Amino acid sequence: MYRTHNCGELRIADTGKEVTLAGWVQRVRNLGGMTFVDLRDRYGITQLVFNVETDKELCESARKLGREFVLQAIGTVTERTSKNPDLPTGDIEITVKKFNILNKSEIPPFTIEDNTDGGEDLLMKYRYLDIRRKPIIRGLQLRNKMSFEVRRYLDALNFMEVETPMLIKSTPEGARDYVVPSRIHHGEFYALPQSPQQYKQLLMVAGIDRYYQIVKCFRDEDLRADRQPEFTQIDCEMSFVEQEDILQVFEGLAKHLFKEVRGIEMDYDFPRLTWHKAMELYGSDKPDIRFGMTIHNITDTVKGKNFKVFDDAEYICSIAVEGCAGYSRKQTDELTEYVKRPQIGAKGLVYIKYNEDGTFKSSIDKFYTPDDLKATAEKAEAKPGDLILVLCGPKNKTLVQTGTLRIEMANRLGLRDKNVFKPLWVIDFPLFEWDEETQRFYAMHHPFTSPKKEDYDILESNPGEARANAYDLVINGTEVGGGSIRIHDSELQVRMFKLLGFTEEKAQDQFSCLINAFKYGAPPHGGLAFGLDRWAALMNGSDTIKDVIAFPKNNAARDVMIDAPSHISEDQLDELSLIIKPLKQNA
Ligand code: AMO
Repeated sequence: MYRTHNCGELRIADTGKEVTLAGWVQRVRNLGGMTFVDLRDRYGITQLVFNVETDKELCESARKLGREFVLQAIGTVTERTSKNPDLPTGDIEITVKKFNILNKSEIPPFTIEDNTDGGEDLLMKYRYLDIRRKPIIRGLQLRNKMSFEVRRYLDALNFMEVETPMLIKSTPEGARDYVVPSRIHHGEFYALPQSPQQYKQLLMVAGIDRYYQIVKCFRDEDLRADRQPEFTQIDCEMSFVEQEDILQVFEGLAKHLFKEVRGIEMDYDFPRLTWHKAMELYGSDKPDIRFGMTIHNITDTVKGKNFKVFDDAEYICSIAVEGCAGYSRKQTDELTEYVKRPQIGAKGLVYIKYNEDGTFKSSIDKFYTPDDLKATAEKAEAKPGDLILVLCGPKNKTLVQTGTLRIEMANRLGLRDKNVFKPLWVIDFPLFEWDEETQRFYAMHHPFTSPKKEDYDILESNPGEARANAYDLVINGTEVGGGSIRIHDSELQVRMFKLLGFTEEKAQDQFSCLINAFKYGAPPHGGLAFGLDRWAALMNGSDTIKDVIAFPKNNAARDVMIDAPSHISEDQLDELSLIIKPLKQNA
């Protein structure tokens, strides 16, 4: 037996026990006649102690141990004289009688401790060493607990986990597909699933009325902190349900996970906001409601005072930033530069300082009397001491810009506490999204998303206003998941395809399997998918989903550890009849 205990479990009650531990040498310290070795495994750290007085030879060989050597130590659990309250095993140490070096290690490229000296690239390259560090193990453990609890909750409700294929047909969803060439079928390609959307709907036709799958999905899209080319969904679908049933079941799952994984009881109904309200109040369809600072439409109050910028604008809105009326000129200039960045794209920023004494100082004093500014402050629901920030322009664009500024101000003011979780449902998404470039409507969710019954009549006459039975679960400004009730009626589906500009042939080409399956008795159904990585990162207090993925890709979609993607041999290319074209000059 290599070990009797792990490195995280021995306590004061174990004093006197003869034990054998195995793990990695984290650190060797020599203090006078004593040598201390921190032995680490994934469960924790236990201190080994060697005394030169009692066993000189053993102590001297301990002094030669290098970092990350793999060690087996045999000894007695002893109470420590100077205890370490930061370690769960900090009351004891092992007085070692004998040890075996199971393996040596080269000097690791960075120190494997909670606070490492390794930069991101190095940590990624040696991810297998990075995973030895507690913060990373903790993230993976939390993720494991989440998956386990998802299965426990859904299994109890009769959900059945069904695996769906990874090599599928390429169909445009939101992003680009990753494709896989077929050797047997010359010139043909599989695609890796962006999600199992069509399969889960086929499973509903097949009678698996409650399906789920913890499943890898692949999307070739621009990467961000909350996006990876391959990520994991908790993918779910239910038959014989309406939107309300889905929201209930999965709000239950969310509460179960918060309780079991983070010990947080959420004994209240999650708030629900329509997409329109979310946009108007927060300038985002994934609002962070941990703090207020909601957006106010002040268009009517500030227009018509000969300030041309406002007079020409379609929409003018504001946020009131608590306690920031004392901002300096430098600070307001900095905010102006911030909103003018290309990623945000505002033309400028107007500020009104509502001083504690009730007076006003603004960047538009020339055009507005103190009474005007007071009326504006009232409309903006500002209090003395607040800094009112105003943006203007086309409605939706301005709302989104103000929403981004709202988040920035909250970050500056430390209002986004990672240990507070505020979930909400965003509902009633628009059915279609207008694309300026191609001058046509696209399905905001996907073409099988059902419109709201009340909006059937306006589908053709006013498609931009039609709402979908679609919903997102948002937590702390992160879209954790989303889904919809699907269309199961073929007439309505034909109408949708028409509206989306699909010819019958194109619809058949892309979705023939689902369209045919629906001819054989499709039950009313709907579902959603949660992003497991995003949710785990949120629960783990991480800023990036990489923290909860064992082997993530870097921001250039590269696995720097295993070196993928990589070139393949001429033979492999020949077998697939593939030729690599030279890169276009401006590509
Ligand atoms: P959607 O595209 O909204 O819906 O995806 C569901 C959830 O998956 C997560 N997610 C991602 N996480 C990490 N990296 C990515 N690149 C990434 N893309 C998405 C998000 C998102 O909310 N088939 C539908 C669901 C349905 O209608 O049932 C779908 O895939 O958390």
